[in-house]
Amino acid sequence: MTAARRPHRWLPRPAGSAARLEFGADYNPDQWPREVWDEDVALMREAGVTIVSLAIFSWARLQPEPDRWDFEWLDEVMDLLHAGGITVDLATATASPPPWLTTNHPEILPVGSAGETIWPGSRQHWRPTSPIFRDHALRLVTALAERYADHPALVAWHVNNELGCHNAYDYSDDAATAFRHWLQSRYGSIDTLNHAWGTAFWSQRYGDFTEILPPRLAATIPNPTQVLDFKRFSSDALKGHLRAERDILQRLTPGIPVTTNFMVMGTTNALDYADWASEVDFVSNDHYVIPGPHDRDELSFSANLTGNLAGGAPWFLMEHSTSAVNWQPINLAKKPGELARDSLTHVAHGADAVCFFQWRQSSAGAEKYHSAMVPHAGRDSRVFRDVVTLGDTLRALAPIAGTLRRPADIAILFDWESWWALDGPAHPTTELRYREEVLAWYTALLDLGLRADVLPVASDLAPYRVVIAPLLHVVPTSLASRLADWVAEGGHLVTTFLSGVVDENDHVHLGGYPGALRDLLGIRVEEFAPRLPGESIPLDDGTTGTLWSEPLDLTDPTTEVLVRYAGGTLTGRPAITRRTHGLGSATYVSTRLTPEHLQPLLRDLTARAGVTSPLPPALRSAIEATVRTDGEHDWTFLINRTASAVDISEMPGDPVHPRPPLPVVGRLLAPHGVAVLSTDARRSER
Ligand code: GAL
Repeated sequence: MTAARRPHRWLPRPAGSAARLEFGADYNPDQWPREVWDEDVALMREAGVTIVSLAIFSWARLQPEPDRWDFEWLDEVMDLLHAGGITVDLATATASPPPWLTTNHPEILPVGSAGETIWPGSRQHWRPTSPIFRDHALRLVTALAERYADHPALVAWHVNNELGCHNAYDYSDDAATAFRHWLQSRYGSIDTLNHAWGTAFWSQRYGDFTEILPPRLAATIPNPTQVLDFKRFSSDALKGHLRAERDILQRLTPGIPVTTNFMVMGTTNALDYADWASEVDFVSNDHYVIPGPHDRDELSFSANLTGNLAGGAPWFLMEHSTSAVNWQPINLAKKPGELARDSLTHVAHGADAVCFFQWRQSSAGAEKYHSAMVPHAGRDSRVFRDVVTLGDTLRALAPIAGTLRRPADIAILFDWESWWALDGPAHPTTELRYREEVLAWYTALLDLGLRADVLPVASDLAPYRVVIAPLLHVVPTSLASRLADWVAEGGHLVTTFLSGVVDENDHVHLGGYPGALRDLLGIRVEEFAPRLPGESIPLDDGTTGTLWSEPLDLTDPTTEVLVRYAGGTLTGRPAITRRTHGLGSATYVSTRLTPEHLQPLLRDLTARAGVTSPLPPALRSAIEATVRTDGEHDWTFLINRTASAVDISEMPGDPVHPRPPLPVVGRLLAPHGVAVLSTDARRSER
């Protein structure tokens, strides 16, 4: 998070109208004949839709030739929606350039690392750094903003779509030029760059910025700092595009907030959203559940991090699916109840808008087998009935709109730079998955009934008693000092193997691992000892580690050993240590523990820090609880993490739910159900 946060802005609402949770979808009327549009609006009203994202992929229709525009159909759709009481998050339509543009200017097409052209025929086939593409895109943005500035349906702008979903890494000549400029401004001189990139290695020393290229396909392992900087640059290049569109919109329509849909836990990790969040008026995110053992907690984790990227303010769930997606090897339909559960989990973490991709399921094209609010089967379908029920539920939850999430006592740090660096070439193991490792800690806390805020690493840690920093690999000395100061003042830090190892240039902090955090932790590691797949290492508390181990020495008399290795050559050596420092403590975990095996450790460490679960013991592993509050009222979301009904009689408060199918029958919360209980805020603790 480099920039100060912009003030949060939300959708304008007519004076005197009550706050509400928004509900809707991407709407693609240009895929359908005119007569379908009336039915669309009627069904939207039936479902309680309040907003649609319009014209996301409509460039070729809006501008069929370089100097011919066709807005009449969009005028009509905007008018129809407005007449139906539905507001519009209008896309700038720049996500997929039309064929005439790529035919006239093939030089806007992205280039892969091996020099291969990414051809048109799908979407997002544009170079983030192409000046020609930028000119054409901004012309379209300007035309849309001028035409719809005063349209009463317009309440938000939707810049492009999922920037960088398919074109984050472009290795073209345009990218090379822009990369050189970016490097010049980062480093100032070629000598500084040579030092940062460690170019004394393998004769890579540059004499001038003009000699530098993106990390194109090379004979073997590329320069890791060049790769890391290219990732930073690529995130910045797309952020530059976002800013360029946003600046036009803010100039021409200053009353309309601007957003773009992030993919916080999406298929690419190329965009540093901690750095992007301050560029939009409100944060929006797209999230798709990938079915698997951790889908429930992964959804919560993503929503939680998005809420913190939004600085705790309400945010927009711009896309998720009503049922199956179309881009997995096997695309499973959602089970009964999952649609509501998934939506409400986002609301539990601060979303004030629940939207889907897309309104009406396409009958043709690449996404015809992707679910929608109105499926191929039409109105008479389980999905549409569930959609209507969800619309009712969101209406009943309207008082929640605009409320804030109550912060947790525990934070888990999330760091895109560490993720990028650990994904880089030639590391001690290829078995490491940053996101899964961080998620394991989150799951372990939920299993204990403990809530944590997933936070960008640059966040203020002062409000937290415990901070968990798994795999915090990139630790500049300034970050190490910040963590040490926070610990000295009473914070309890928990970190793991591979943390503190490198600085911002991906240079190893010399003298032993964990480098920049060595003194704070009071330990020293001379050599890594990664484990083979399937190989585990026993620990003397009865748990087992996998993936990683280390021969660890204590360097400070106050460092205590919490757990030792109990197998192989490391038998008897420390595995988990804790050092008190000032008023706080710093704990180090040198191996990978499953959520189940993290539990005893976390139970002990959080208890020592004075943090306990607010849930009754019987509910602790079954329920995820989050609280939204307006200071007077609390709304406690109870999310059933299990496939069994859970008795929630011990929880205070009255369920807020409109009509069947109720997730709460008597005081039993249905499998995977979500209950929202309303209580007086003054009775709550944090
Ligand atoms: C998103 C995208 C949508 C649609 C959706 C399908 O990545 O923004 O346009 O493709 O995925 O899951």
